[in-house]
Amino acid sequence: MKIGIPKEIKSEEGRVALLPVHVAELIDDGHSVTVETGAGILSGATDADYTAVGARIAPGSASVFGTCELIVKVKEPQEAEYGLMQPHHILLTNIHAAADRPLTDQLLKIGLSAISAENTHRYGSPNCPLAGEVGAFEGVRMCLSPHGGSGRHFMPHFGAPALKAVVLGLGAVGNGALRTLMRLGCSVTGLDINAGSRKRARLEWAGSDFSAGDIAALPGLLADTDLFVNCVLWPKHRNDHLISRAMLAQMKSTAVIADISCDEGGAVETTRATTWSDPVYVEDGIRHFCVDNIPGAVPATASAGYGAALLPHIKSIARHGVIATCRQDDWLARGLTCINGELILEEAGIVQKRPFTPVAELLSD
Ligand SMILES: NC(=O)c1ccc[n+]([C@@H]2O[C@H](COP(=O)([O-])OP(=O)(O)OC[C@H]3O[C@@H](n4cnc5c(N)ncnc54)[C@H](O)[C@@H]3O)[C@@H](O)[C@H]2O)c1
Repeated sequence: MKIGIPKEIKSEEGRVALLPVHVAELIDDGHSVTVETGAGILSGATDADYTAVGARIAPGSASVFGTCELIVKVKEPQEAEYGLMQPHHILLTNIHAAADRPLTDQLLKIGLSAISAENTHRYGSPNCPLAGEVGAFEGVRMCLSPHGGSGRHFMPHFGAPALKAVVLGLGAVGNGALRTLMRLGCSVTGLDINAGSRKRARLEWAGSDFSAGDIAALPGLLADTDLFVNCVLWPKHRNDHLISRAMLAQMKSTAVIADISCDEGGAVETTRATTWSDPVYVEDGIRHFCVDNIPGAVPATASAGYGAALLPHIKSIARHGVIATCRQDDWLARGLTCINGELILEEAGIVQKRPFTPVAELLSD
């Protein structure tokens, strides 16, 4: 199969879908791989590194989309890429279709096969721990006084307490945030509705300045917290919030919200997604950091994990096609978003109130 890797064009996105080490395996399997010039440069892979393993270098994205069938990317297609997608394409990338009606409209109109990579990770997304680790790090930086923060150091000093952080949601992202905050020496409260998640975090950070509680404890923590890190996986159909606009008035004026989940109008009512080139905004006096591609800031690391996670799926699709692979691999099937103009992804159907064909029904034919 002809596999294409375009250069990511989202703001400040330096990741690439596959590094040369991954491309080499596909070429060994008998496939051809075309990489857009410069696609790997911010991840530490030059055009020469790709040609050394047998890839072809294309001068631009039009050439990649125009000559390849299986298109592998990192971020959701940007508007400039809409016109490049064709009905015969198989697109494997992070799509987040439920939250993006215009993109869903495009994918259905074009009629290509699209798979949401973010739903296909049997062992958890390799990007989530990175997002937590880097997002929390950025949050700590914003607590420094010159950046408008409370000026509390991230570790205790001569009896002065360390920076106080609250982490909401103790899953893959939340645990990444804890690793950064705990290792720096912060004083952290982790909140989660799930007793198992709280227990795991307590065990991991026993002996450190860490406590875990139910999310119901949040209102009591608003007044003396320097940094809120939101890592809750928020159901897209929910209309309520964990941190409402009214709650911002109860926070210190120097507090910062690092919303790593960054669902617009989700767990944090006042969140809107930002980019690394303009990452922070102030709403009701509170700084919000809501970059929606945090791992894009550590591309040399993030691309290694992303490529490794997708490679087995790519090999299987390239060998057996989308439908046969989904029948064999229920994790890939979870990502099936649309095919031939038919919406398959249940979450997008429910959130956007549009008809969809459940994946089990599609695969049973
Ligand atoms: N900004 C970025 O670059 C970036 C990158 C990766 C992931 N994310 C986002 O981070 C979010 C978290 O991902 P994850 O992989 O950690 O999910 P996860 O499922 O592993 O963890 C979510 C945690 O939230 C908890 N939770 C759910 N509802 C809750 C509630 N009402 N109150 C408190 N806790 C609750 C769950 O029990 C779970 O422990 C997702 O929305 C994901 O899209 C963002």
